[in-house]
This record gives sequence, C-alpha cells and structure tokens, in this order.
Amino acid sequence: MHKQVRHIFSKTFGSRPGIRTFFSPGRVNLIGEHIDYNGGFVFPCALSIGNYGAIALREDQTIRFFSQNFESVGIVTVSLSDLDFNPNHNWANYAKGVIREMRIRGMVIDRGFDVAVFGDLPNSSGLSSSASIELLIGVMMNDLFGLGISRPDLAVLCKKVENEYIGVNCGIMDQFVIANAKAEHGLLLDCNTLDFTQVPLHLHGHTIVICNSKVKRGLVDSKYNERRAQCEAAKAVFQRRLPIRELCDLSLEQFAEYASDLKDDVLFRRARHAVTENIRTQNAHRQLLADDLIGFGQAMTASHRSLRDDYEVSCAELDVLVDLALANGAIGARMTGAGFGGCTVNLVPQNCLDSFRSAVIDGYRQAFGIEAPIYFAVPSDGTKEIAER
Ligand code: GLA
Repeated sequence: MHKQVRHIFSKTFGSRPGIRTFFSPGRVNLIGEHIDYNGGFVFPCALSIGNYGAIALREDQTIRFFSQNFESVGIVTVSLSDLDFNPNHNWANYAKGVIREMRIRGMVIDRGFDVAVFGDLPNSSGLSSSASIELLIGVMMNDLFGLGISRPDLAVLCKKVENEYIGVNCGIMDQFVIANAKAEHGLLLDCNTLDFTQVPLHLHGHTIVICNSKVKRGLVDSKYNERRAQCEAAKAVFQRRLPIRELCDLSLEQFAEYASDLKDDVLFRRARHAVTENIRTQNAHRQLLADDLIGFGQAMTASHRSLRDDYEVSCAELDVLVDLALANGAIGARMTGAGFGGCTVNLVPQNCLDSFRSAVIDGYRQAFGIEAPIYFAVPSDGTKEIAER
C-alpha cells in the first residue's frame, strides 16, 4: 500500500526526492460507547486499515492535496495564508483545519507541500475515516516541521478542529486512540483525565470481527447532538444533589439513589446507559486481564442492549447483525461508533470464523438484500511514518 500511495503521488505531482510516507489507522471501539463526552472510560483499538499519505515539501507557500478516494474532487490547491473552510474542498478541509489550528497556535509551518492520500477504510461506516485523516496530517506536520507536539496534545488539537472547524460535536475517543494506539493492544482511556493504559489484547483463540451494515444514516449528527444535550440535562439534575463534574462520575448507587429526580423517562434511560456503560467498560477491562473472554464478550453484548434500548442509537440492521453474530458463534457482539448504521464489532472463536462469515453474510442478505462486508481486525499502531523498504 505504501508503494501505491507513492505511485499516486508521483503520478499526480511528479516524482522528486524527499517523499515521505505515513499511515494513519481507522479505529474500532470494543466497549465504552457514547460515554467519551460524559467523562467515562472507553476501550477502542486502532485498525490495520486506514489512510496512507505521501508528502514532500515545496519551495513556496502553496499546498496541494489529492486523495485517490475522492478522485472527483481533484487536486485542491490552497495557500498557507488562506486555510479557511471551503465546502468545495471536501475531505481536504480536515487537513486544512489541522494546519490552520497549528499556525494559529504559533507553530511554524512556513513552507508549502504536496500530499497524496489513499485509503482502504470504508467512508461513513463509523470506523473514523475523518479522525484518521486529521491525525495523518497532524503527524506529518509534527514530524516534517519538528513541532514537538505530544501525541495526547495532538489528539486534543485534532478534536478541536473537528468540533469547531468542521462543526461535528464529537468526543475525544477517535482522535485519541488513532494518535496513541499500540499494535496488539487496546487503549483504555479515562476521558475525564485523559490518563490511558495500553492493554495487551490476549484473545486466546478469538478474533475481533467487524461487520459493516452499509447503512449510512443522514440523521447521525442531529441525533448525536440530541443525545449529548440529553446527557447534559440529566447531569444538571444530579448536580443539584452531588458535586459531580460529568455524568459518568456517578456510581451505580448514587444513580439509584437520585434517579427519581429525573422526571423524564427518556433522560432516565440516557443516564442509565452512561452510568452502566462506564461500569461495564471498567469491568470488561478487568475481565480481559483475568483472561475471562466469556465475561468480556457478555459485557459487549450487554453494551449493545443498553445502546439499543436505553440510548436508542441502534437500528434494525445493526440489531440483526448482532443477533446473527450471536447465533453463529460470537461470544460478544455490539454496534460500534456513533450508531444509526455503520458497523458491529464481534468477538469470534477462530475455529468458526469461516462459518460465522458465511452465515452472517447470508442472513443479512436475506433480511435486507445487502452484502455486508466483513473485516478481521488487526489491532495496530497509531499514526506513524512507514519505514522505507
Ligand atoms: C463517534 C464520536 C466519538 C464517540 C462515538 C460514540 O465516533 O466521534 O467521540 O462519541 O461516536 O461512542
């Protein structure tokens, strides 16, 4: 793949010395869903699929972007002095926003460059293609211009770009894991403090399998913002009783004691998801450390039920994918990411991978007439330069 992206670079911008190649992964969240913005624990890992980028400096102040995945957008040409959002620039806005934010903070990016991108991550499937692009450019700038930004700070910077420049009100999970992940590990992140632990994924004969529903819901952004607002409203009710900073600061006991203050059933269920998901995630981490894969899988499935019934961010297609997975050997299955479409993540014994795959594909085709792409996840490193071979 890295040869391919260099080829795309040369074809688009002409061959020249000094081309450097980077890889930025996508991510899948194993457990801890919709609680990064509630100060909870999340447990994602980075994937071996993602975005490859080739970059070379120029002598002037011009930046040219090209992505093979958005061929019809063509080459986007901008000047270092004009990095404002432009809807015509499509995917390149993610890159422009990061560079702009770095310059606003006084970081010295004083030469233009050409950059070509090529990725094998399905777009709009909930595997974080946008955070992957942000970190790709962020790490390129950090390395090429010697900016010295730490990985956690880079993640926070990219999240700010997504929130304020792109206008998507996401939490910190995606940018953080893509910036900081380690191969063969999951990353347990406390979103309150940004303390994190790399957790070896000893899966004892199981594979993390991702099933893509291929459903892309236009409503994701508005529903996502609605969920965030509901959590804020629920938090304000508990804050009248307890000195909590975030909804996930509540223990199960505190939740039980004061939940009757929530006069609204919807707010009650949203808060119950946040509190129980946070506890499930910490328990799942302990279960993994104790080699209790069955317990870990059960926590994943319980997470799905809570997202489906209490948080109401699943959809019929994701529910069918989860049911098919559990009926065909998975020891845990859940929707992953923002929901309303996108992917499920499943823990599947290696000795039934083939039958799992064909049964899920057949069952999903019968139910919805859609071929579901299935990926075997390889927990990978965060964004990095790829060594020359
Ligand atoms: C999206 C957001 C994340 C997180 C998940 C849900 O992926 O970008 O910050 O909130 O949804 O867990």
